[in-house]
Formats: sequence, structure tokens, C-alpha cells
Amino acid sequence: MFEAVLGAGTLIAPVLLAAWWFAGYLSGRLAFRRTRGRLRLGAWVLLTVLGLAGLLTAAELFLVGQLWSYGWLFVKDRVMLGLPPLVLPTAAVLLLSVPRLWRVARSAAEDHKAPVDAAGRTGASDPLLVVSVQATAVGAALFAYLTWFPPGLPSPGMALTLWGMFSVATAALWVRQRRRCLKMSQSDAPAAPRLGFRFLQTGAFALVICAGFGAWFAYSKQASALPDRFSMMVHENADYGGGPEISRGSGHSHEHGHGPSVSLTGLTGPREGEPDRRFTLTAEKGRIRLSSGRTVEAWTFDGKAPGPELRVRRGDLVEVTLLNEDIEDGVTLHWHGIDVPNAEDGVAGLTQNAVRPGEHYTYRFRAEQAGTYWYHSHQVSSEQVMKGLFGAFIVEPREPEHEGEREITVLAHSWENEEDRVATIDASDTLERRSVAPGTLVRLRLVNTDSYPVTFSLTGAPFKVAAIDGTDLKDPTDLTDARLELAAGGRYDITLTMPDRPVRLGVPGAVGFAGENPGLLLSSDGKGEAPALAGGPEFDPSQYGSPGPTPFDAESDFDREFEVVLDNRPGFYDGLFHMLWTINGEVFPDTPMQMVREGDLVKTTFVNRSFMDHPMHLHGYHVLVLSRNGEPVSGSPWWVDTLNVAPGESYVVAFRADNPGIWMDHCHNLDHAAEGMTMHLGYEGVTTPFEAGRGTVNRPE
Ligand code: C2O
Ligand code: CU
Repeated sequence: MFEAVLGAGTLIAPVLLAAWWFAGYLSGRLAFRRTRGRLRLGAWVLLTVLGLAGLLTAAELFLVGQLWSYGWLFVKDRVMLGLPPLVLPTAAVLLLSVPRLWRVARSAAEDHKAPVDAAGRTGASDPLLVVSVQATAVGAALFAYLTWFPPGLPSPGMALTLWGMFSVATAALWVRQRRRCLKMSQSDAPAAPRLGFRFLQTGAFALVICAGFGAWFAYSKQASALPDRFSMMVHENADYGGGPEISRGSGHSHEHGHGPSVSLTGLTGPREGEPDRRFTLTAEKGRIRLSSGRTVEAWTFDGKAPGPELRVRRGDLVEVTLLNEDIEDGVTLHWHGIDVPNAEDGVAGLTQNAVRPGEHYTYRFRAEQAGTYWYHSHQVSSEQVMKGLFGAFIVEPREPEHEGEREITVLAHSWENEEDRVATIDASDTLERRSVAPGTLVRLRLVNTDSYPVTFSLTGAPFKVAAIDGTDLKDPTDLTDARLELAAGGRYDITLTMPDRPVRLGVPGAVGFAGENPGLLLSSDGKGEAPALAGGPEFDPSQYGSPGPTPFDAESDFDREFEVVLDNRPGFYDGLFHMLWTINGEVFPDTPMQMVREGDLVKTTFVNRSFMDHPMHLHGYHVLVLSRNGEPVSGSPWWVDTLNVAPGESYVVAFRADNPGIWMDHCHNLDHAAEGMTMHLGYEGVTTPFEAGRGTVNRPE
């Protein structure tokens, strides 16, 4: 529904513009009609076109109202910037133009052939009649621009520019029409310009518009080129979320600076001490064989894709050494969902340099939270994760919670061979059978390593969603046949007691290379009929389980409140023309850099008014979801590190700024991230010595 409203509004805007433009043109020509009959006819035609344009305007306003019902941020820019220059002149048309036109249209004319007299011409060229219509055309143009190139959040500067343009254009039209009207009131009226001249005039106008567009196009293309080397702190667009301004550390103005700046390279995990668990992961190119027998090209850790599952216990000091065998672009390891110290976060160009072939790099951190996580390369991640440079990272509780629990990790991914792309579970594109004794407690750790939401379905037993993104839920209740839509990058732990009939987990609609639906079949003997996948109601985490204590809530006093509008518009990113996925109207590096001070309590509102899902992932934190689509979360406290914001959805989340550094905050549809849908969370005084760009080895996305 949301997409239909959005699409209709976007499509009507240019039609609206065309209708008002045509009306503006007709109103300008009205006084040049030579005979009374023609003048009357012209007035009727114009009234009809105005009626149409009015209807379109009403339809567009209705659609804006519909969008508004999803939340204020869905229309804030359009309403604040675009409505005044559209609605005010439309009102003027109703109050000034229409009565005057009506008079012209109804003027007595016994003799249709009789020439129009001076009074008639004056009436028809009355600036109040003509300019109202033409000004609405200008307003419609601004409105169409705002609809197609939405700025996301309005700013006073933008309002001044747009309204300034509108006022100047209207004033110019007024002056022109006044002059015309004066001439028209003379007894020898000026003849209408010749067709040839008008043709030239229109041609010249079109040429100017085209040249303008061309120049703007060339300029934006040029301006969008990323510099050869840039720091993740290049954001000009610092956002303080309504809190006090703060400095970004060295290289930028220190006017507001407090205290010295520190490099994030000092924000490491424990450098000393014997690790409890030590791993080595070697990145290399290879091919893997899927369960259907097809082989696909893959980039692997230790020859496997997905890479080996790393298992540690809560509180362990973990040391992982990454070796790069032959991935030319270099690799890194990012611990998705684990709130590690900033220097261990594994983002090329921000927290380290990409590890090139033959090089190695060591990460050390303490695994503080038990749960399901994953690791993946954060260098050219859109390509490297797709090709297999990822794996599961499981933090077990200190003491096992249930003796004899059976755990199965399920990574949803998709693989590509020459012709096709198929959905898989791990490296399996067929139904995998496992034998599980009835009565066994089963924990399925679902991880979505793909770039799109994946909808799981489980049939054969009631189950609970025990944890989301590595955080246990409070009092989860039994679900039957619920569909679980998992955000790209997100995780659900589901638990069930094995019944004495088969249980099937799968992704409805997914097809492997052999035409089979990939999935998992659990049964006592590993055999048995697979029950059909159920298509039950969709699981809604915002109303699941029961409320529990949280360190802050919607009523807390927030130090900073950020607004993030996810959107799309045509434009350039790094010199290439795309449909851009924007954050507050911009792509990196023009996206906001959200600035905080250590200890700040931060609230962020996300709305998605684009046509695709955006799984937003803030590194270094779990955020508490306060509300979804305006409804407060009424179930278990819902902590996430990856939050899928679907078209038309809005979320309010909150977190405590207690993990200093510079953190990526991006869309985990990694293709979107690669096209600039990234921003950063910055701390007062924290700097990075690393740089990304063509002139460096680093390309984080
Ligand atoms: Cu899983 Cu920045 O990513
Ligand atoms: Cu996205």
C-alpha cells in the first residue's frame, strides 16, 4: 500500500506540472484572441484546463495526506518546503483567476466575429488572472523537484532558496504581465507574436532549460567523484542531534573542542594476556560444492564458505589472526553484532588498513555477550560477503543453560554460478536431513548473511524465538507456523522441543540448483516425509514476550535526537548515474556524521520512504527499539544491532554512547552501502589515521 501511494504521488507530480504549465501558457495567450467568440472559447478552454489541474492538485494533496499518515517525517520536507509555493498560488487561482475568467467566458457576445475591444483585452490580460496561474506552474515545478529529489529533512537554507526562487519568478511574471496589460489596453492592440517567433521563443526557452540540466548533470557527476584518498571523517555534514556542538578532533575546527583528541588506534581490546581461545582464519580463493553437486566460485576462509564456525564462551579473551592468501583487494574481519572496542572492529579505511595478500592482522577482544553473531570481511564487502568471506561466531553462555541441548547454526545465503543465483542454507541448496531424538531441546541459530530479508518458516512443532541479534528475549511464548522475516545481517535464535514427527525449517519459495527447496529436516531417524512449509502469520518482535527492565526508555531524557530519512532519488555516486539510496537526501560523504559525547543518551528515528528495505546496522552497539510505526514496543525489551526498516516503516531506537570510537552506521544491503548508503557515528575528539579511496588500499564497501 505504502509503495502504491508513494509511486502515485511521484508519478502525478510531473503530470501536475505539465497541466499547470499548459494552463499558464494558455492564460498568457488569452488576450491575443482576435474575436469575441474566440476569446470566450479561450476562456472556456482555460477554465477546463484549470479544472483538470485543480483536480490533479487535489489528488496530489490527498496522496501527501496519505503519506503523512505514516508519520510526519514521511512528508516533512514536502509539506514545509513544497506546499506553500503550490497551495498559495492555487488559492489565488481560485479566488482571483477563476472569477475573472468566468466573467470573460460569460461576456455577452452577439457577434462572435466582432473584434475584441480594449476593455475586453484588458480584462483578459489582467495580471491577477494570468500571473496566479503562471505562479502555480512555478510552484508545481518546485513541488515536482522536491518529489523527485527529496532533501529528506528541510533546512532554513533550502526554504529560503526555494521560496526565493518562487518569489523572484512570480515577481518577474508580474512585471511582464503588467506591461502586457498596459499595452493591451491601448486602442491599437499589439498583434500576437508570429508563430515563427513564438516557435523561436519556445525553442530558446527549451534550450536554456536543457543547457541548465546539462550543466547541472555534468557538475553533479564531477562533484560526486570521490577523492583519491579520504578520511571517514570528511563528512561536512555534522549532525549534533539537537545537542551541543562538539569537535571532531584534529583536522577540523577546534572552536568547540573540549579536551585533547585521541586516535581510535588506541581503543583496542586487551593487548596483554594469554587468550582463552585462539583462531587463525586464512582467506583464499576457491570453489565450493553445494549439496546439489553444483560447484560455485567462492572466496573462502580455511577453504570453506561459509567459513568455519568460531565458538567461544562468554568472557573469553579471543584472539583471531587473519591471513590473506590471495584476495587481491585485501580483506578484513568485522565481528557483526559483537560490541568490540573500536580498533578491533575490522572496517578497512576506518579502523585498519585492508590486509593484503601475504599479510596478516590480529584481533583481540573479550566476548562479553552470549549469543549468535557472525563475522565477515569489511573490505569491498558487497562483493566479498556475497562470495563467501563470512562465517558464524557463537558465544556460548559460561555454563550451559540446558544440558543436552542440540544446536544447529543456519546461515541463509545465496550463491551464484555462471547462469544462476540460488538461495542456500549454509552451502546446501537441497533439503538437509538430521536425526534428532524426540524430546531433545533444539536451538536453531538463524543468521541472514544475504543482502535481502529472508523469510524462514518452521513446520512440525511449536517454537519460541529465544533471542534476537544475540540478546535473549523475556518470556518468549510458543509460536505455531509463524513466518520469521530476518533482516539482512540479523539473527534469530529459535528453540523447540523435538516432537516425534518430522520438523522442517526452510525458506518458502527458495530453489536450489537441482530445483529443490533448501532447508533442514529434523526427524528421529533422519528420514521421513517433509511436511509442507506453512505460511502462517508474520512474527512481530514488537509485541512478543513480556516487558522487562531496561536502562532507559521512551520517557528518558535524551541528550541527542537524530532523524534519519531513508529514501531514493536519481543522481550520481562517484561519477556514476544511479537510482541512489539516500540518507537524509544524500549519499556518503554528504550523509550526516552523527556526533556524540561519551555518556550521551541518544535517540534515533528511522523512516523509510523509498521502494526497498534498508537493514540499518550500527557497529559497536545494541540499540533498544522504543517504537515501531508509532506504536510503543509492548513485548520483551527488543535489542538489535541490525534493524530492517521496510518501505513505509518508522522506528525509534535508543542507545547509550558508551563505546567510544568512530563507528559505521549503514545499510546492510551491501550493494546499497557500496553506493553510498553509509554514515558514521563520531565521538568528540576521536580521530582515525586511516583513509579510504582509490589512492589507498581501502574500500570498506
Ligand atoms: Cu555486517 Cu558494517 O557490517
Ligand atoms: Cu539499503
